[in-house]
Amino acid sequence: MQIKIDDFDDLGNGLGKIDNKVCFVNKGLPNEVLDIEITKNTKSYINAKINKIIIPSKKRLKPICPFYDICGGCNFLHATKYLENEFKILKGKKFLGSIDKLYETAELNYRNKVIFHVKKGEIGFYKTNTNQLIKITYCYLLDDEINKILALFNKHVDNNFTGEILIRVNSLKETLVSITGNYQYTNILINSNLINNLVYNSKVLKGNNYFIEYLNDYKFKVSYLSFFQVNCKGLESIIDILNNFLKDKNINIALDLYSGTSVLGIIMARYVKKIISVEEVKVATLDALENKKLNKINNLEVINGKVEDYIDTFKNIDLVVVDPARRGLDKKTINYLKTIKSNYLIYIACKMDSLKRDLYDLKEIYDVTSINLVDMFPRTNHVESVCVLKLR
Ligand SMILES: C[S@@+](CC[C@H](N)C(=O)[O-])C[C@H]1O[C@@H](n2cnc3c(N)ncnc32)[C@H](O)[C@@H]1O
Repeated sequence: MQIKIDDFDDLGNGLGKIDNKVCFVNKGLPNEVLDIEITKNTKSYINAKINKIIIPSKKRLKPICPFYDICGGCNFLHATKYLENEFKILKGKKFLGSIDKLYETAELNYRNKVIFHVKKGEIGFYKTNTNQLIKITYCYLLDDEINKILALFNKHVDNNFTGEILIRVNSLKETLVSITGNYQYTNILINSNLINNLVYNSKVLKGNNYFIEYLNDYKFKVSYLSFFQVNCKGLESIIDILNNFLKDKNINIALDLYSGTSVLGIIMARYVKKIISVEEVKVATLDALENKKLNKINNLEVINGKVEDYIDTFKNIDLVVVDPARRGLDKKTINYLKTIKSNYLIYIACKMDSLKRDLYDLKEIYDVTSINLVDMFPRTNHVESVCVLKLR
């Protein structure tokens, strides 16, 4: 069966019509004519996969990754970066109105963290929406130091090992590896100069269970279980947006909600009289307290707890920065953000659907003054949004 692809869907798949019914074609690109096989046919939509590309898009590429068709890790290697950017900007406009700018980052080898799943000695990622493990020997999204450590694991592994391998690398190329499961070759890892810090089933075998990340003039302690943005160039863009916003504002009290290791709180501290971070993961707040000391900050208060449990205790706030997980904000937090009437609200979101839903509520009393996209996850359909709102 043939189809002409007219557009992208919200996930970056091809969108066309068959007998007036909408059809989503996995990895189809706009303007292509494809021979397809239907994989699901419901009353309202059809899912399909490509059998043969009859007329390819001029922006189609041969994916560089041999695992691309089976691994769920990325989903834009079959298109030029230019087309991926077009998709991200168009999606931004469709969901959020207008977009000021897309801040680009390195296209490949940008990720500073990965978690590999391991089943009976096979190391890799799960195929999209399944728990079927795809063995991986190299990933183009990962920093090459991580790929070197993956190669080391693939050389020294046996089928008694089922578990997880977390690998992080900082901007000085220092590495941190944490293994859960029954792995036999820890001595090889301890003696390898590829690995600076090694944790095995929560026990430190080499170095520490954290490393220090260096960003501009700042230092951040990042424990192996703490959140840290996976793309440092993307984080630098968020920091640039915050610095530009704050440089001519007069802010007394600011909130840094969903704060992780308080990276954003520490950056903002020099512009405000007082700032309060709230983060639910204990180890991240302990890192945040260290980060205060490392950066000689004394106007930051760090609270360990859920935002929704503390939100109604804050008064006279001038600026709130929220950077929630993919599900976005809960109702209580949104309602309180409408009650406290902070002069400014900056919403950093990794999922546009949640941001769109929450902005709809917040727009009752806030006007959106700028929306920037940060390409935190190149070669995937994900993009970070940074949205500045001002009290009406
Ligand atoms: C996207 S990260 C942002 C972290 C930080 N702003 C940064 O850039 O490093 C979201 C953080 O929110 C935390 N979190 C998730 N739900 C939370 C909640 N209900 N209350 C407080 N923190 C929460 C997570 O543990 C995570 O550290």
